[in-house]
Amino acid sequence: MFPILLILLLPVALQAAAAPMPEGRQARLTELLLEDCGACHGRTLRGGLGPALTARALEGRDPETLFLTIRDGRPGTAMPPWGPYLKEEEIRWLVEQLQRGAIHAR
Ligand code: HEC
Repeated sequence: MFPILLILLLPVALQAAAAPMPEGRQARLTELLLEDCGACHGRTLRGGLGPALTARALEGRDPETLFLTIRDGRPGTAMPPWGPYLKEEEIRWLVEQLQRGAIHAR
């Protein structure tokens, strides 16, 4: 029974892991990060009302915790939940870019 399930589910798992973020969406997410997130975290992401989101500031931080912070916000603080506006894979993509220091203000 188990091997059959595995064979059935494997393609689904592979597809989910392999699907890259479409380029147009990447550009929109980058813009959102610099404009909307930047309004609080600083246009250069070095901090403002919210803490810095640079690769250095996020070094060694658990990606899952960062994901949950962005999806659900931090109740009682100014950090709003982005779950209503962004897909989970888009939030994970943002966390990955932030931790790699891949997004810079132009
Ligand atoms: C209205 C202001 C505001 C906006 C807009 C905002 N944030 Fe925040 N964010 C905060 C504040 C304030 C905190 C710190 C909360 C706390 O005290 O724990 C925070 C915390 C965070 C943290 C946790 C940082 C850490 O060191 O633990 C991450 C990651 C984060 N924000 C990402 C984002 C992203 C990505 C966006 C845009 C999609 C965004 N924020 C938009 C105010 C904001």
